[in-house]
Amino acid sequence: MLWKLITFFVRKFDPETAHKLTINSLKLGLHPRLNQSVIPIKIGDLSFKNFLGVAAGFDKNAEVINKIHFLNFGFTEVGTITPMPQYGNPKPRIFRLEEDKAIINRNGFNNLGMLEAKNKLEHYRNKFPVGSDFVVGINIGPNKDSKNRFSDYKMLTKNLSLFADYVSVNVSSPNTPNLRDFQKKENLEKVIKFVKDGIIASKTLNKKLPIFLKIAPDINKSTLNSIIEIAHSQKIYGLIISNTTLDRDINLKSKKYGELGGLSGKPLFKKSTDILSQANKIIKKNNYKLFLIAAGGVLDSKTAFVKILCGAHLVQLYSSLTFEGPLIANEIMRGILKFMRRDNIKNISDVVGIIDNPKEAMNIAINGFKSNKD
Ligand SMILES: Cc1cc2nc3c(=O)[nH]c(=O)nc-3n(C[C@H](O)[C@H](O)[C@H](O)COP(=O)(O)O)c2cc1C
Repeated sequence: MLWKLITFFVRKFDPETAHKLTINSLKLGLHPRLNQSVIPIKIGDLSFKNFLGVAAGFDKNAEVINKIHFLNFGFTEVGTITPMPQYGNPKPRIFRLEEDKAIINRNGFNNLGMLEAKNKLEHYRNKFPVGSDFVVGINIGPNKDSKNRFSDYKMLTKNLSLFADYVSVNVSSPNTPNLRDFQKKENLEKVIKFVKDGIIASKTLNKKLPIFLKIAPDINKSTLNSIIEIAHSQKIYGLIISNTTLDRDINLKSKKYGELGGLSGKPLFKKSTDILSQANKIIKKNNYKLFLIAAGGVLDSKTAFVKILCGAHLVQLYSSLTFEGPLIANEIMRGILKFMRRDNIKNISDVVGIIDNPKEAMNIAINGFKSNKD
């Protein structure tokens, strides 16, 4: 109740101030101290205490990783980090669509830059080395005015790989002009090459550092197919599906629906889950070894469970943290444990990707597997 009340008051501030306030409160230790629920999952060499993570954009500068430990998440993804510090777009640039439980942001990779993040990560890793219980991904992207965006990716992995459990390659933010073109075949292959070159040139001993590609929900099936083919042939670890959407066809009630930028939160759920489900089917059909991380509109245990049934090994959220507050992971974990008891699921990985249709997955989340068989 207390944290719900605090979240309610924090939301009285404009979204960017509220976010700053949240980060500062975390730094000061003003946060709940929750036990970590254990719903373990292993994907390749990466082991997670639980499958739920904080999505990129929340802790852009890797300032509060050790505080997120207390919020019952199994992992976090810091960034997006660019080589040089970047102010981003003019403010206001984040808009809360209260009636829709959604956010529109056009931040434009505002962050303190690679060197500042490196300091923070170095400090964190002194206490929690790579491979610790709590998994940390580092999300990277190029500077807006960079002369060579490919080289930016290389510089970032060269400097930051040492601190990462995995790297997330952002080729999908809608707020850096033309970034999404990096999802096209020749560009994507080149980005991956530069990312790998950076890892090889870095001080990390793990030259097979897991690489995830974070993709947009606004792609057609042929682009999705091409991304998956490239990911498979380049031995990428997996995909993060998805970033925010530029789509506004979704019925939105809030007057702010027309703001420019990427839409996240509840209205993104259907679109991002449809792409996730398509990706899962393609991967299964071809017997590829690619892991999927789902993001987009996860706000409770049902939406998280649907993502898992539709192919997600791991699930991330951001928007619902701002609407529901710091107990969100606790609530989701409690709900998922209930579903596991209800449906007699021993390991969560047993149900990853077993349902091909998101609507059917939602029916199972609500009513259980038994109802599906009746
Ligand atoms: C304010 C805000 C800032 C974000 N910044 C980033 C970012 O820097 N890099 C990135 O890859 N995704 C960023 N995202 C996208 C989220 O990581 C996530 O993919 C998306 O919001 C969908 O999840 P959600 O519906 O749970 O918010 C941002 C989202 C929001 C709301």
